[in-house]
Amino acid sequence: MTVHFIGAGPGAPDLITLRGRDLIAASPVCLYAGSLVPQALLSHCPSGARIVNTAPLSLDEIIAEISAAHAKGQDVARLHSGDLSVWSAMGEQLRRLRALDIPYDVTPGVPSFAAAAAALGAELTLPGLAQSVVLTRTSGRATAMPPRENLAAFAATGATLAIHLSVHVLDKVIEDLMPHFGPDCPVAVVWRATWPDERVVRATLATLQASLAEELERTALILVGPALAAEGFEESRLYAGDYDRRFRPVGTEPRFPEAE
Ligand SMILES: C[S@@+](CC[C@H](N)C(=O)[O-])C[C@H]1O[C@@H](n2cnc3c(N)ncnc32)[C@H](O)[C@@H]1O
Repeated sequence: MTVHFIGAGPGAPDLITLRGRDLIAASPVCLYAGSLVPQALLSHCPSGARIVNTAPLSLDEIIAEISAAHAKGQDVARLHSGDLSVWSAMGEQLRRLRALDIPYDVTPGVPSFAAAAAALGAELTLPGLAQSVVLTRTSGRATAMPPRENLAAFAATGATLAIHLSVHVLDKVIEDLMPHFGPDCPVAVVWRATWPDERVVRATLATLQASLAEELERTALILVGPALAAEGFEESRLYAGDYDRRFRPVGTEPRFPEAE
């Protein structure tokens, strides 16, 4: 018996991995984390599967579900939105399972920041502009930020920021970013990337508030940084015609003459 933690992807049901889909199909129990996990994924469950929405459950109740399946020798598919490496509450579940000696494995999923970047058609790491992406959030009711992890500190690096769980405090986000990125810095908000009601707003830090006509629901990512709307960036050296590399040796004395 194994508990399969599976990244369910950002919303579109065909953005789960083949491995994730097959594990759902092979597991007689499926626990899924609320409305951000697309209901259509549950159609992969085998007939007669026990399917439980864990949104209203406590951690103790979730572990009780898993323990009951363990006692029956039944595999569990445990679905969380996006990828499991960020804001999935997987860590605390795995710690309980280790204490109970219940086996588990982890199958990654498409994270929402990647889905939002795809909606924008954006590479977040453009040469000369940004070579780092910071996945971050602001403090919430349930989770405070460690003191040194604050938007101003991340913005000071000039990296592209993917700010989760924060669209409801957009005013404060803009206020913290403005001194570092400046009013003309490009910013985009992507609501429900890959869902049928996906919505994208592009603006600058100075114009973003005015571009948002109405209050929109919370499942949204704020992407900000000079890489987001840039046309004047350098081309990467990797594909430069004169760049000698293993798979494309250049010149009379290439550094990698054994290639081809
Ligand atoms: C609890 S976190 C889950 C993150 C998830 N594990 C991931 O890999 O992206 C939920 C937050 O992720 C972002 N998010 C999740 N799905 C999204 C989507 N389809 N479009 C935009 N943002 C999304 C929002 O900022 C939302 O508040």
